[in-house]
Amino acid sequence: MEYRKYDSQKDKKAVYRILNECGWVHDKKNKLLNTLIPSANTLVSSINNEVEILVHSVIGSMKYLDEELKLSAVTGVNASLCARKQGLSSKLTAIKIALDAINDADVSGLCIFDQGYYNKLGFGNGNYENVACFTPATLNINRKPKLPTRLTESDFKKVHRSRVKRKSFHGAVTLPEFITEAEMGDKKKNTGYGYFDDDGNLTHHLWFHGKGREQGPIWIKWMSYENLDQLIDLLALLKSFEEQILMVKMVEPAFINLQDFIKKPFQIKWLTSKSKHQNYIYATAFWQLRILNLENCMQKTHLNFEDINFNLKLSDPIDKYIPKSMKWNGIAGDYIINLGKRSSAEKGNKKDLPTLHASVNAFTRLWLGVMPASTLVFSDDLEAPEKLLKKLDSAFVLPKAHIDWNF
Ligand SMILES: CC(C)(COP(=O)(O)OP(=O)(O)OC[C@H]1O[C@@H](n2cnc3c(N)ncnc32)[C@H](O)[C@@H]1OP(=O)(O)O)[C@@H](O)C(=O)NCCC(=O)NCCS
Repeated sequence: MEYRKYDSQKDKKAVYRILNECGWVHDKKNKLLNTLIPSANTLVSSINNEVEILVHSVIGSMKYLDEELKLSAVTGVNASLCARKQGLSSKLTAIKIALDAINDADVSGLCIFDQGYYNKLGFGNGNYENVACFTPATLNINRKPKLPTRLTESDFKKVHRSRVKRKSFHGAVTLPEFITEAEMGDKKKNTGYGYFDDDGNLTHHLWFHGKGREQGPIWIKWMSYENLDQLIDLLALLKSFEEQILMVKMVEPAFINLQDFIKKPFQIKWLTSKSKHQNYIYATAFWQLRILNLENCMQKTHLNFEDINFNLKLSDPIDKYIPKSMKWNGIAGDYIINLGKRSSAEKGNKKDLPTLHASVNAFTRLWLGVMPASTLVFSDDLEAPEKLLKKLDSAFVLPKAHIDWNF
């Protein structure tokens, strides 16, 4: 397939048309169009000399326990309404991921429009994230809110620095500054509040969509805090909106169960049942990940477990979508894996070792701690002798991964 780098001068009009046909952009000043797409590594593909498909990704980082991995974050895939079901979007996405792998990315991640599409490129579901919908008056926070500072889109550098310095954990993603700038969105609909230290550093803040709505809902796009005491400051701030805002929606912050901070959560849930202000917490897996460089990922895997050695026969469905001429077309192959405090993967096969058969989709989920090996046998594409499965179940008992950055 033919593709090339996005050129703002030449392609902006066609890309606006695609995004508009997808229902994503209705305004030519939109930040996705003007900030994100020109700064990201965007590829476009044409049909009959008209740009009809675009894919963009950015290089960021992802934490694996205490280590940092280089992440290819796929930030968008769009096809116009006259380019669908030709297989071109899948191919262009696969090529974009291959280029990022050649550029040394260890893993690739994305947020899904639905399950299944990106599985064909080797991605597997991440953990469930809890999404909380609550009335701030029900928050059980006994702290007087500190006076915050109002943040605006021109504060994007400070906001980004605060996001980079936030308390992070297994799975946490960090993307470049222009992504924060773009994600802050339209100033008429988005706003934020935060707290500065004596040196003028923004230490903790929240940013939300829903500015100007008399009773909400407001959608917390993100919260950044360096410690849990600062998180309580932010919850106290949300509670201070209680006389007016009836609904706050947010992905539950890592480290806490929001229900612990809600008064009579079950009573409120039933009282608001079927109302537009229904209070409830639901769980969904909306992001996916895949390994791009197995050797690097294993090198950064330090498990508190005795050493396990096995052969890995890895399959990778992405190769069907990538031209043979590219330097990277997936990571299918035979590997010898050593897992433990120091782990490794090397190409090959040892006769006396047990063998794990897995797709890269399933192996990524095992490695990230999303699902135990013995469950993946039934829900995914993974097979091994019982003894090896049991060892893998015990080895990959990891904290729940949260990306804490929706892209
Ligand atoms: C997502 C999108 C880019 C796909 O575009 P497309 O050009 O039709 O995709 P492709 O032609 O590469 O792939 C289509 C194939 O994927 C399959 N597919 C689509 N969704 C699927 C799913 N959830 N599970 C499994 N297969 C799926 C289709 O059935 C089709 O299969 P076929 O080739 O056997 O007929 C397009 O629908 C779009 O632009 N949507 C709006 C923007 C959007 O949501 N982007 C994704 C952001 S994460």
